[in-house]
Amino acid sequence: MGNLTTSRLTADAPTTHQKLLAWVEEVAELTQPDSIYWVNGSVDEYARLTTELVEAGTLVRLNPETFPNSFAAFSDPADVARVEEQTFICSEKEADAGFTNNWMAPAEMKGKLNSLFAGSMRGRTMYVIPFVMGHLDAEDPKFGVEITDSAYVVASMRIMARIGTEVLDKLTATNAFFVPALHSVGAPLAPGQQDVAWPCNPDKWIVHFPEERSIVSYGSGYGGNALLGKKCFSLRIASVMARDEGWLAEHMLILKLTSPESKVYHVAAAFPSACGKTNLALLDPTVKGWKVETLGDDINWMRFGKEGELRAVNPEAGLFGVAPGTGWGTNPNAMRAIAKGNSIFTNVALTDDGGVWWEGMTEETPAHLTDWQGNEWTPESGRPAAHPNSRFCTPIDQIDMLAPEYFAPEGVQVDAILFGGRRKTTIPLVTEARDWTNGIFMGSTLSSETTAAAAGAVGVVRRDPMAMLPFIGYNAGDYLKHWISLSAKANPEKLPKIFLVNWFRRTPEGGFAWPGFGENSRVLKWAIERIEGKADAVETPIGFVPTAESLDTDGLDVSAEELDAALAFRSEEWQTEAVSIEEWYANFGEALPAGLRAELDGLKDRLA
Ligand code: PEP
Ligand code: NA
Ligand code: MN
Repeated sequence: MGNLTTSRLTADAPTTHQKLLAWVEEVAELTQPDSIYWVNGSVDEYARLTTELVEAGTLVRLNPETFPNSFAAFSDPADVARVEEQTFICSEKEADAGFTNNWMAPAEMKGKLNSLFAGSMRGRTMYVIPFVMGHLDAEDPKFGVEITDSAYVVASMRIMARIGTEVLDKLTATNAFFVPALHSVGAPLAPGQQDVAWPCNPDKWIVHFPEERSIVSYGSGYGGNALLGKKCFSLRIASVMARDEGWLAEHMLILKLTSPESKVYHVAAAFPSACGKTNLALLDPTVKGWKVETLGDDINWMRFGKEGELRAVNPEAGLFGVAPGTGWGTNPNAMRAIAKGNSIFTNVALTDDGGVWWEGMTEETPAHLTDWQGNEWTPESGRPAAHPNSRFCTPIDQIDMLAPEYFAPEGVQVDAILFGGRRKTTIPLVTEARDWTNGIFMGSTLSSETTAAAAGAVGVVRRDPMAMLPFIGYNAGDYLKHWISLSAKANPEKLPKIFLVNWFRRTPEGGFAWPGFGENSRVLKWAIERIEGKADAVETPIGFVPTAESLDTDGLDVSAEELDAALAFRSEEWQTEAVSIEEWYANFGEALPAGLRAELDGLKDRLA
């Protein structure tokens, strides 16, 4: 640890939290950084760190006139996405990780990690980032501390979470529990060795210890692998906390809807990747008289309030959105938030005037760019200018349509839960579940078809329960049981209604049956009107689907054939689907909740 002795470290630390001090000392001892820096979260600190990152070549400062206080980063070409094959849930028992997770025994994994981390921060600064997911003045604030040797991670965490002195002071004053989240890019520097712009290691490990509630991440500097407050804490570890404490940590957006009669409703919605979650979260409604505001686009913590109502909070402070496809036409609300600056872009393309660009950002493609790998690019280059998983990282309070309730620690009451997939056939535009357990059945079978964008066969149905497949921190069967059991805590009158949606169904000719985007507000309206008992529906073996008349199609450019293709329940398709669900459920083995087995049996009976 260079010339820093253990006692000096403790004396200099801005906390007296003994567990935290002991952990920081232990990590410094193991990783041997040149220095230790406690992150305070201030504006000055951010300015200094980003300036240092510009000098180091990690960040490019963008044109302050078009992108004020904003930067672009370019990763190693082999460090561009979450590494699910290298993501582990290390519970004591393998069965507690379940079939959806990679597992290794904790002791074995710790041995491996200890050798990887030995000396891994040599030549670097070790940053200590106190953070809280959710509100600092929540009843039971969820603290974490990330130790990292990446200043890019510090800067990004400042956008994505509440960090710094205020958090540390409360953590110290209440001597609270915190999730230790250790991160190293795994690229120690020998004395005098020149650093690279994006240090990382080909060997990557994203590891969770659910019983201890700790996280260790090695080798990657990329978002979901390295910003440990996000997927690692707020979904994988939080899902375990939620199981034990009786709440839900979900991969969901949160929306506020206001009806023409000024009645307020809230919707939570889960969609697998590439199904338009950020677009729905920031939707401009086309349906007359309805207003949409947003509370979150990715993570939703839900717990029951004093009156048995389900309440939702977005634990994050920023957006970490996929850039390609986010444009002035498709998502002007995201674009306006980005245009206010204070953002970090990763793996986008650079324009000649010091701005950023990605596919789908503008209608017109610039004649010349520098692509995400630093090469000259023109529209004739025949390759994307921005990486398909390039990202914008932007403070959430820059969203004009942010609901004021985002700032309320007690969150908002959820009236409807949407589970959405991406299917060309079978799944109607919207289906209302018969009841809570039937809704969980829908969520547990959520699916999307693989597209040409991903490796492997096109059109294969992939199941993604509650869009949580890569994020459930324990056995997926137990997770579904937990969802089912929660209805016992609810006031039955306040239990949200559950809907299955699919914006992607095709007509027999192969085109999209439903236009999507802002028109999805019509589906939201129907869902709310079902809750109000106002809209008609047809009861089918899979649940309640809208009659053509009950869906508000006023001013909508959709033919009767298209509408029928979007809404229809087709028995033949569901015969096949039931077989496919049966195969999916076989993966759960003994852990499949009896209630869901009964749901599948009931569906098969109704189809017969
Ligand atoms: C991420 O990859 O860091 C991330 C936020 O994941 P996703 O967009 O798939 O939710
Ligand atoms: Na991702
Ligand atoms: Mn996500």
